[in-house]
Amino acid sequence: MTGFYPRVARPALFRLGRGDAEATHEWTLRRLATLSRRRVALAGLRRRFAVAVPRTVFGVRFPNPVGLAAGMDKDGRALPAWPALGFGFIEVGTVTRHPQPGNPRPRLFRAAASGALVNRMGFNNAGAEALAQKLDAVGQLPVPLGISIGKSKVTPLDEAVEDYLFSLRTLRRYADYVAVNVSSPNTPGLRALQDRTALDQLLAALRDAAGDTPILVKVAPDLTDQALDELLEVGTDRGVAGFIATNTTLSRDGLAAPDAGVAQEAGGLSGRPLTERARAVVSFITKRTTLPVIGVGGILTPDDALRLFDAGASLVQLYTGLVYAGPGLVKAINERLR
Ligand SMILES: Cc1cc2nc3c(=O)[nH]c(=O)nc-3n(C[C@H](O)[C@H](O)[C@H](O)COP(=O)(O)O)c2cc1C
Repeated sequence: MTGFYPRVARPALFRLGRGDAEATHEWTLRRLATLSRRRVALAGLRRRFAVAVPRTVFGVRFPNPVGLAAGMDKDGRALPAWPALGFGFIEVGTVTRHPQPGNPRPRLFRAAASGALVNRMGFNNAGAEALAQKLDAVGQLPVPLGISIGKSKVTPLDEAVEDYLFSLRTLRRYADYVAVNVSSPNTPGLRALQDRTALDQLLAALRDAAGDTPILVKVAPDLTDQALDELLEVGTDRGVAGFIATNTTLSRDGLAAPDAGVAQEAGGLSGRPLTERARAVVSFITKRTTLPVIGVGGILTPDDALRLFDAGASLVQLYTGLVYAGPGLVKAINERLR
């Protein structure tokens, strides 16, 4: 890859944390939070990076279909910066009812030879109420906001519905859509909420409390076709507005030899090794339902994004691609779409 980001910025950023990827992440987020308070700088960036490719999906108008995936800015610390970098929507979270520290560090690892990350963050976040306060302070954003909600670690699985409901009630007035995260591999038992009965109960309660806010379900890439079929049926019956496919994978396929050490780390794998699987899941879902799908997983080039749209995605999101290709990727995708 050529260009300023991979040649200059990325090596500097990767050195910054002295091997701790989360330190780089923290540094970047602090810089973006500072930038978020500088109107003139934001406007300048926006002129440089934002490309209009408007579309309307589940009743929401998006200035372009390339979004920031959940987990990058969990607590909404740098919200104005993302549209300035060209993103057409932002998904904050995953947040939980109770603030929680997440897993012990280190918990984020680069598999740089493979264009991948392994993380076991474990929903480190300041909680739903803190996010509500933040969103009150930030005010109206120039792009739609999705809010991802998950289960607090301290809440037993059989009390999950109340836990999600609290977050939904606290946050729905700020959300253009709410993403129900039942697919993170890093909260013990969470993925069991993708099972028919549990998901049915959860979605029935959330749909009831959501009013006219669209609810989307984010799915794991590790489900069998049959499990996915069941999930789609339950989601459709319960009136969800769409699906987000996919979260990180437990598989370690597709990691290059130099990343063998990282492959041993527990957690979810994202980036290049996920590209093909995410596309297959998007394609599977859009063949079986008419509901819109947000495609996410392993977009590291504009071609990766175009293939996800070809597979049927209405919108796409990225996280790991931002780390390896830099913010110019968002603009490059939108220019290809236009
Ligand atoms: C460090 C990290 C933290 C993440 N945290 C969340 C999260 O809190 N909620 C969520 O739904 N997905 C989370 N994800 C998953 C991403 O949103 C995305 O689904 C996944 O990484 C695949 O996309 P990518 O290959 O573009 O990164 C996280 C991913 C990473 C790398």
